[in-house]
Amino acid sequence: MAMQLLLSAYTRRILYGITIVFVFVSLVWWQPYVSTGTWLGSSTATSSSVLSSSSLDIVVSMYKEDIHNLSVVLRDVQSLPPIKSISRVRTFIYVKDVEANIPMLQDALATSNVIQLPNAGRESGTFLTHIISNYDNLAQHTLFVQAEPHEFENAKNRIIDYFIPSTGVLPLGILEVCDCTSCKDPWNPDRTFNRIEELYSILNSKFCPSKITLSYLGQMIASKERIRSRPRKIYEYLNEILEADQDHHIHKDSEGLAQEFEFFTDGPGNPYFGHTVERAWMLLWGLFGC
Ligand SMILES: *[C@@H]1O[C@H](CO)[C@@H](O)[C@H](O)[C@H]1NC(C)=O
Repeated sequence: MAMQLLLSAYTRRILYGITIVFVFVSLVWWQPYVSTGTWLGSSTATSSSVLSSSSLDIVVSMYKEDIHNLSVVLRDVQSLPPIKSISRVRTFIYVKDVEANIPMLQDALATSNVIQLPNAGRESGTFLTHIISNYDNLAQHTLFVQAEPHEFENAKNRIIDYFIPSTGVLPLGILEVCDCTSCKDPWNPDRTFNRIEELYSILNSKFCPSKITLSYLGQMIASKERIRSRPRKIYEYLNEILEADQDHHIHKDSEGLAQEFEFFTDGPGNPYFGHTVERAWMLLWGLFGC
């Protein structure tokens, strides 16, 4: 009897211990689903062991960029510490050059996922196309990038310093703040982005706060949960506008802008609205106001 009691007390302690460990692990594991868009301050967590059971899709928006250089970029990205421990990394190349040689790209970039798209909607249209067609089948994280990444060294350092399993969204370019109702690039007051205010309102069913965060350069990492926190139809709508044909009123957005845009031909291949969406990813995925 005494032996039995002793055993059950011992068993209880073990069970108790297991429960504590389980709760702790769950808390760490579930953090992404409750964390908001903060990408700063978590560089201490080096849980690459958890990333190892994860998956990453690298989504590249390409036009006529140098293939060899892109293969170097891809190899570089894949060898970064937080990424090389991920067990499943897939690469998707979306190419908008009608003359692209698909088999050659597949061979040079070591991926069968080379997809030709019509030249419309800039890189934002490419990223939206990937999200729309893979909405139910997204990797745990998706890294969106252009074939010639901007400020690549900085982007790589961002990945090394901040990419962890619980990353919700991680911009790999520059962040700036603008007045939501009269949003301008801080270094160029002639570049205004009137649709930012509308986008904020469409997405949040609210008027703008006074300031919002813009992202630049069209490169970032987002988790599946973060992407799916917006319904597919939002992505479809944005893409429809980005790819709208020349008759659509969206192509009048750039009229009346500064001299800089005198020679800017707004059309499906380079809609001014594409420059707006480039700046608006954080409106979709976090880092809303400030
Ligand atoms: C390829 O990359 C190198 C080094 O960054 C650069 O100097 C060169 O201009 C690039 N080539 C092309 C064709 O873009």
